[in-house]
Amino acid sequence: MKSFNHTLRVNNVPNDVRSLLYHIARGVKYINFSLRAGNTGEANTSNCSGEDQLKLDVLSDKIIMNELEGSELCALLASEEQDDLVRFPAPRGKFVVAYDPLDGSSLVDANLTIGSIFGIWEGDELVGKKGREMVAAAYAIYGPRVELIVAVKGKGVMVFEMNDVGEFMLTKKDLKLRENSKYFAPGNLRATAINKKYLKLINDYIAEKRTLRYSGGMVPDLHHILQKGEGIFTYPGCEKHPNGKLRLAFECAPFAFIFAEAGGKATTADGQEILDIEITEPHQRTTIFIGSTGEIDRAVEALR
Ligand code: AHG
Repeated sequence: MKSFNHTLRVNNVPNDVRSLLYHIARGVKYINFSLRAGNTGEANTSNCSGEDQLKLDVLSDKIIMNELEGSELCALLASEEQDDLVRFPAPRGKFVVAYDPLDGSSLVDANLTIGSIFGIWEGDELVGKKGREMVAAAYAIYGPRVELIVAVKGKGVMVFEMNDVGEFMLTKKDLKLRENSKYFAPGNLRATAINKKYLKLINDYIAEKRTLRYSGGMVPDLHHILQKGEGIFTYPGCEKHPNGKLRLAFECAPFAFIFAEAGGKATTADGQEILDIEITEPHQRTTIFIGSTGEIDRAVEALR
């Protein structure tokens, strides 16, 4: 038997973490149903970053919020779609969850693959935490198949696929990344207009006849790297946005945790480990280079 719950139990995932992940899995199932229902219109609202929200952004956020609140395991929730943190009154749970309920919403109208991302810490505050202190992280990918990828501290990376009755079943465990790669996923290419070192790195990849894989969705782009066991995703800053576009708590730290469990690496464009950056503001942004360790070291060196 390779069901979600059973797999986490036999891998000695603590009961409360397992139960929290179970609620996340249920939320992912409901988000998938909403996506398939096809209500892709705009909500006529914007989030705190000034981005227009889709009805699906709002709905997905509500689904995850309800699931996590219903778990009675959380003290604090931080959503990419909400300005404010949601704090639960005592007696409250022992976890903080930061999540992006629908990453890649600008891809929804084009029917490209999107995802949800979750970072889990123990405690009752998010500010002051580092990615390295997470107890677990997960992401869901809504493609032709729906998969939920889970990393629990010290237990590696597991992949579950949703079956036709909505259950997540284990399909792979212990995903590992090779040190070097032929794949590259270059984000924020606008930066090459000014940053000639970034332009040279990209041109070097092309000259080396590497394979480009970039969809514009962080979830599918990083999932490709994990599934193939190799690759690099880069998102440096530019003049207007020195810290790039991607958020530390909702996107970069959870992925850095998952990649570290797979033997990979994630740094800023300056070479600082993403897992060592302290969260000073829930919506703070960071540049990110993430993937096979040898590729990250090379890219950081190239931009130095
Ligand atoms: P959004 O949710 O607004 O579609 O943004 C998606 C994020 C992330 O998933 C992706 O890696 C990045 O934005 C892509 O940025 P570019 O548009 O600059 O390529």
